[in-house]
Amino acid sequence: MPNRNLNLILLGPPGSGKGTQGERLQEDLELPYYATGDILRAAVKDATEVGLAAREYMDRGDLVPDDVIIGLIAERLESGEADRGFILDGFPRTVPQAEALDAKLSEIGRQLTAVILIDASDEEIVRRLSGRRVSSNGGYVYHVEFNPPKVEGICDVDDSELIVRDDDKPEVVRHRLEQYHEKTAPLVDYYSRQALLNRVDGSRDPDQVGEAVRSLISTFSLEEGP
Ligand code: AP5
Repeated sequence: MPNRNLNLILLGPPGSGKGTQGERLQEDLELPYYATGDILRAAVKDATEVGLAAREYMDRGDLVPDDVIIGLIAERLESGEADRGFILDGFPRTVPQAEALDAKLSEIGRQLTAVILIDASDEEIVRRLSGRRVSSNGGYVYHVEFNPPKVEGICDVDDSELIVRDDDKPEVVRHRLEQYHEKTAPLVDYYSRQALLNRVDGSRDPDQVGEAVRSLISTFSLEEGP
């Protein structure tokens, strides 16, 4: 019996809940989870060449140049670690990135299963990002009101201190939203034309959104794997 691979993209505005749902899916599905924001933040922390190039863009709330980010994802898809499926969060974010992903997948004989758009209004996003806290050691995400840790200021999973992300300052959040509407929202049409787009209302609470995402996934017809 061949494996059935899930090759999934989580799309949506900043703060819509992609990371929150991505963490849950990663645990449920045991698939490689590539969140480009997390990958870039780790590169900044380690002061790698990519991190040094990306930092100023991220701090301003601008997108990092396409060639930098496409290389990071292509590397992972070519490595073999995603041969049994993958979850992409935060990539692609521009039409050229989506075209590069299509080209890479076709080169390695793979195809996308689906794109899940987790949507929320700009107003809701500003509310969420102003209360977001993240673990200082990794990518665990909380909200002071909507998803608080068990002990205030401490990550439930790795006990690290919870911090505010540099790009969650209000003026940077506004700029990230502008970038989303200008450069990433065209992907909604791009993937609708390929009949891959599935929309989830991200304004409900995290458990309800998670339930909607899981029930959608159960309806997908999956790629035959090795
Ligand atoms: P990235 O880290 O990807 O940021 P983002 O897309 O702006 O997304 P966020 O991480 O802010 O939000 P999220 O949707 O994951 O929401 P979360 O679950 O945390 O990218 C950062 C930067 O890196 C970019 O600005 C860019 O510079 C660069 N970059 C990354 N990828 C790139 C690419 N492909 N090309 C170029 N540049 C790139 O939730 C938010 C908050 O809300 C949390 O506090 C959470 O607890 C809470 N919450 C979540 N769900 C709910 C809910 N249903 N109800 C109430 N609260 C909720």
